[in-house]
Amino acid sequence: MTWISIGKEEEVSLAGMKRFTVEDMDIAVYHLKKGWYASVDLCTHQDCSLVEGQIENEEIVCLCHGGAFDIASGKATRMPCVSPLETFPIRVVDGWIEVDFI
Ligand code: FES
Repeated sequence: MTWISIGKEEEVSLAGMKRFTVEDMDIAVYHLKKGWYASVDLCTHQDCSLVEGQIENEEIVCLCHGGAFDIASGKATRMPCVSPLETFPIRVVDGWIEVDFI
């Protein structure tokens, strides 16, 4: 695994999310009550940014057409989204958010 620090823990509030751009890739980081999660910040329907949407019941709901994904697994849970999101391992170490996306 190749862990890369992408930002500080305090940059993403509990129940919140934020986009980080690392090596030309936009990564959405989600801070849920049950833990931290990361995915590409790109809806698989028509490429909208997911962090512009909202979190509902541990799902990310896309702002563009209302499709949704399970944040933990990346599985599409609501039409028009069908294809899953690419997700990445994530951890917080000494206040730093680290993602393995290589
Ligand atoms: S682009 Fe996300 S639901 Fe259409």
